[in-house]
Amino acid sequence: MMSIQSKKALEEALNFMYSYLALKAYFFVGRTNVMNSEYPNSSYVELWRDNYSPISNDVLKPIFSNPDFSCIDFCDTLDKSSYFSLIHPNHPNITLGFVKDADLWNIWLSESPFSLAREAIAEVLHLGDDSVKVVDFGCGSVSPSYYGEVMGSKGVYTGIDFSHSMLKIAESKVKSKNIDWVNLRRFDLETKVTVKRKYDVVICSSIMQYVNPKALIRNAGELLGYDGLIIVFSEVFRDLEPEKEKLLKLYYSMIPGFRAFPSISEILEILDSIGVCYRYKLECKNLLLIEMSN
Ligand SMILES: C[S@@+](CC[C@H](N)C(=O)[O-])C[C@H]1O[C@@H](n2cnc3c(N)ncnc32)[C@H](O)[C@@H]1O
Repeated sequence: MMSIQSKKALEEALNFMYSYLALKAYFFVGRTNVMNSEYPNSSYVELWRDNYSPISNDVLKPIFSNPDFSCIDFCDTLDKSSYFSLIHPNHPNITLGFVKDADLWNIWLSESPFSLAREAIAEVLHLGDDSVKVVDFGCGSVSPSYYGEVMGSKGVYTGIDFSHSMLKIAESKVKSKNIDWVNLRRFDLETKVTVKRKYDVVICSSIMQYVNPKALIRNAGELLGYDGLIIVFSEVFRDLEPEKEKLLKLYYSMIPGFRAFPSISEILEILDSIGVCYRYKLECKNLLLIEMSN
């Protein structure tokens, strides 16, 4: 029952985020006239022309029916950055980098939708019930202490991230909570990850849009010994909600390292190409659970 509620809360938060950004996009298009005017960053202009569609009243409903004010700071930064992005893709007022702006990401990652994704993941995986070994790909600054506490000392948690500034914040939270069953490692997930231990579960929460999914799934398979669970949270899967994906991509494309939101069919094709046995379940619109077995 709890798990159904947390998945619903996650979907609702993402619906609100979509509505709020759609409204911001409406103002952005009106103020900048980006559909007809030229700006120095022509690729960003093209992206808007190719992906923006006028919003309908229906899209705005969640703003009033299910408001989730905790994601507004993140959305407002995306919105503000979009104006500077018309000038230059690396404009200094774009504050979305995982290394340069780790302190800001640390605030956003404590809030919705990321906090709700964490709760839903912990519930789907029943973390804390058994002694389980978890590796978290692109762990960021908040998840290590969150999952470490939920899992308790009988579990093992390894967080992997390439941003030393995110890991530094994560480390200080882990130290202050005295949860020494939490390990942190610095790796670029685009490359082969080498760790001694085998794991039972791989968490991929809001990471697949930044890393080649093939590299991510191969790394996950290796660390599981091709036997275990992979849980994927994505703000949107592009084959499930194409309209939402078109809008979110306009904003997420400004985050350094952004590639593309994943699609379920692409993930399944990769699993097929690796030749591994697997089952999968879509827990809700934003959470995919894969069970590998050998
Ligand atoms: C949006 S945050 C999500 C953090 C965390 N999973 C959560 O849900 O709170 C994405 C994280 O992925 C990390 N990341 C992005 N590209 C990466 C890569 N190629 N290798 C390792 N980490 C990466 C970033 O540094 C950042 O901490």
